[in-house]
Amino acid sequence: MTDLARLEAELTSAIAAADTPEALEAVRVSALGKQGSVSALLKGMGAMTPEERQVKGPLINGLRDRVSTALAARKARLDDDALNARLASEQVDLSLPAPARRKGSVHPTLQVMDELIEIFAQMGFAVAEGPDIEDDWHNFTALNFPPKHPAREMHDTFFFAPGETGERKLLRTHTSPVQVRTMVSQKPPIRIIAPGRVFRKDSDQTHTPMFHQIEGLVIDKGIHMGHLKWTLEQFIARFFETDAVTTRFRPHHFPFTEPSAELDVRCDRSGGEVRVGQGDDWLEVLGCGMVHPNVLRQCGIDPDEYQGFAWGMGVDRLAMLKYGPPDLRDMFAGDVRWLEHYGFSAFQAPNASSGLS
Ligand code: DAH
Repeated sequence: MTDLARLEAELTSAIAAADTPEALEAVRVSALGKQGSVSALLKGMGAMTPEERQVKGPLINGLRDRVSTALAARKARLDDDALNARLASEQVDLSLPAPARRKGSVHPTLQVMDELIEIFAQMGFAVAEGPDIEDDWHNFTALNFPPKHPAREMHDTFFFAPGETGERKLLRTHTSPVQVRTMVSQKPPIRIIAPGRVFRKDSDQTHTPMFHQIEGLVIDKGIHMGHLKWTLEQFIARFFETDAVTTRFRPHHFPFTEPSAELDVRCDRSGGEVRVGQGDDWLEVLGCGMVHPNVLRQCGIDPDEYQGFAWGMGVDRLAMLKYGPPDLRDMFAGDVRWLEHYGFSAFQAPNASSGLS
């Protein structure tokens, strides 16, 4: 065996035996480093005669190339092994079941929303939606709030910083802008309900900065307050699941309805909690009225041809009344113990045949 062949055999087995990047680097330095064995051979070529160089040059260069290739291949292999080992050691088994301590449940507000949708769907109402971020026109102006009117401030509105055009967007303070969006985009007859989130700067036992409302709107020819009263009384009876509930309409003011009223239901407060359907007290449940002609006009509907009624109510309040949580703030605290106590099974979706609650 020639010296070159022996050196190549040695280096090849040293490369194969190197089982860490550090060991392999040591082999590389011993062959190709400044003082390395192959580097020495390459350097030695300078002192050879041209004839000698012609014979030995290709042999030495060939050795250098094969050693370099073997080093690179071994390095790639060691890198792969290291990566695979790391992947194996850091593996997370996503198929592991979650601890079975907590069961998810349907929040009372969503349960009540589903009940309301079910009741009004049976009466022929469709569900409409609008954005949480509104503009002044949909939230106030089109609803007949005069410009600069204190009612805009009364709603404790969350305003955004003005945009490039100077327009201030806002978080909708009620679901009534969905009335406007519906009337602008659809032709009467209209029968919609619009459930959704609303926002006001307010927080105490009966107020939270975010809460839920549901809006109702009917637009057709010849609509009058009798239709409004019948619709809401039907709803109250179905929602509280008894004909024994007594209602009363109290005159009120909203800019977007004329006349306007609030609907109260008879209740009992003597035991510290509110019981609907008994007692001598009254509980305010919703605001309603005949859609103001100005609102119809703003939305492109001729008030001489079409009339309508509307109402709006707090969904969380209804959930509290029907299912008992006493403090509105707890509704959105995300406390799992509360949710376990007041939540509903996802398999108990309200429907007309099996009952609403
Ligand atoms: N938007 C009113 C509020 O947030 C509730 C309301 C009252 C809605 C009367 C209506 C209505 O559609 O007719 O206080």
